[in-house]
Amino acid sequence: MSFCVFAQDNWVAPLEAKEIVNPYDGNQIAAQKGEILFQKLCWTCHGKSGLGDGPAGKSLNPKPKNFGLNSVQDQSDGELYWKISNGKGMMLPYKHSLSEEQRWQLVNYIRSFEIN
Ligand code: HEC
Repeated sequence: MSFCVFAQDNWVAPLEAKEIVNPYDGNQIAAQKGEILFQKLCWTCHGKSGLGDGPAGKSLNPKPKNFGLNSVQDQSDGELYWKISNGKGMMLPYKHSLSEEQRWQLVNYIRSFEIN
């Protein structure tokens, strides 16, 4: 017996996550703090520029996505926050190790990868 594993397995946050309101919406200072956290904790997989090309991300399946893609940026702040909090597979949950404030700072920083 075998299970079908979809190559393009798409990670979707639960519906209720969409509605979580970002208390730091548009706050640039929070985004700057998020950058500092990101360059410490996240870049190894996500890459220094958020392209998903970090040294530890290369061998992962699924790989981290380029944060600039619409499929990432079209998600609400609440969905990104939920994913950082709860994780999936090699993307560990950060709700135990980072405060809510720190997780929102990371969301604000990820917004800065939006390709305009
Ligand atoms: C050990 C490698 C690793 C580290 C470290 C890591 N991530 Fe991830 N991350 C992943 C992988 C792999 C995925 C894709 C998971 C999937 O789609 O199944 C992911 C997905 C995500 C997503 C969802 C993007 C999407 O495709 O919807 C966000 C947001 C995210 N990571 C943020 C972070 C933040 C913030 C940190 C640091 C606090 C971090 N990650 C640290 C591996 C990592």
